[in-house]
Amino acid sequence: MTAEGSPDRADAPAPGLSIDAARLEESIRALATIGAYEDESTGLVGVRRVALTDEDAAGRRQVIEWMEAAGLRVAVDAIGNVFAERPGLDPSLAPVMVGSHIDSVPTGGAYDGVLGVLGGLEVVRTLDDRGVATRRPIVLAFFTDEEGCRFGTDMLGSAVATGRIPLDEAYALRDAAGTTVRDELSRIGFLGDEPIGARRPHAYLECHIEQGPVLGGAGHDVGVVTGVQAIAWYEVTFRGRSAHAGTTPTSYRRDAGLSAARVNVALRELVDSGRYGELRATMGVVRPHPGVVNVVPGRVTATIDLRNPDDGAMEAAERDVRALLAARGEEDGVEVTWRRTARTAMVPFDGAVMDRIDAAAAARGLRRTRLLSGAGHDAQEWARVAPAAMVFVPGEHDGISHNPREHSTREQCANGVNVLLDVVRRIADDGPLGRDGGEP
Ligand code: GLV
Ligand code: MN
Ligand code: MN
Repeated sequence: MTAEGSPDRADAPAPGLSIDAARLEESIRALATIGAYEDESTGLVGVRRVALTDEDAAGRRQVIEWMEAAGLRVAVDAIGNVFAERPGLDPSLAPVMVGSHIDSVPTGGAYDGVLGVLGGLEVVRTLDDRGVATRRPIVLAFFTDEEGCRFGTDMLGSAVATGRIPLDEAYALRDAAGTTVRDELSRIGFLGDEPIGARRPHAYLECHIEQGPVLGGAGHDVGVVTGVQAIAWYEVTFRGRSAHAGTTPTSYRRDAGLSAARVNVALRELVDSGRYGELRATMGVVRPHPGVVNVVPGRVTATIDLRNPDDGAMEAAERDVRALLAARGEEDGVEVTWRRTARTAMVPFDGAVMDRIDAAAAARGLRRTRLLSGAGHDAQEWARVAPAAMVFVPGEHDGISHNPREHSTREQCANGVNVLLDVVRRIADDGPLGRDGGEP
């Protein structure tokens, strides 16, 4: 998945200014206090800012306050995406958009998504401090429900903004309690009035933590992200028969818990078979009902998350996973039903934008590599409508993420955001951008 890149300074301009790394770190720390929770399994304080909850709303308000303090003009669209514009010298030109998300998984850390948003804010603050204007406007954005763990589908806000998911479909999505996206947007005050699709940037950039071990393991300072692998999510229900644990002979049982466990093992066997390339499979939710020590589970609700860098291998894996669900149900006398809640193909990023990131990292003498993203990102949605690419920064503890141990150092964050700064400046001042970057 990676290609080596050594620090060299070939044909890239010397960086003229750098961000305030301490100010960036302080902003990240301050936002992490919103939605902070005590994590039982690690004993650490994590971040719980699940999309469209009160904590998410408080985080949104804090970031908007900072955006407005930086003089940005803030607008909210009909799916709750927040856009904040710094004017350019030529208002007729399409903006360079810098974005990510501030919602988190229920057991999150301080950096996932936040680095891209507050890194973008730090870029704006740095330009302001030094009185630097750009030809193109710069739009700093954060998008609704990137994580997808509440309403069942990831990258929701950016997918709606760029046309993959219709607004009505997004509004109608429900969480486990039956509450809709539209009702929650309205309740937290983020059902905005900007029409969907009103923004079509000249280019889209996102700085994000890698969330994996590749960069840190090889001693790289930053990653030039080549794209995002394919993702498929399923919600699966196993329906058997609930019964007394002590009195029901094995031959009488229709144990939904056993079927779910067997599927989980079979998924790992599919992965280990090597027949589906670099397939990853995760059963992240396994909920037995009634969930009582002495009751055979009559029903299990579960999820399956599949990832694959190869679209053909992903299609084959999905076909075979569905077949194994059907076969499992038949063999175990359990009814197995499923629903695909999210599906994105492998998304390649723009070559010209990647080259700009590479050149900026080289100019700063940073060790870098190209790598495909294992996680989903808003950039993969914006890539549909504009040349897009991402900068990754390494994290401590093998890049652990979706966990309170998630941590990137001040220097690691600063390296990525300095590269972001250089590339934003460069693209916001240049003319057409390579193969698909013409006006507007
Ligand atoms: C987003 O965080 C994902 O699940 O990849
Ligand atoms: Mn993220
Ligand atoms: Mn995430």
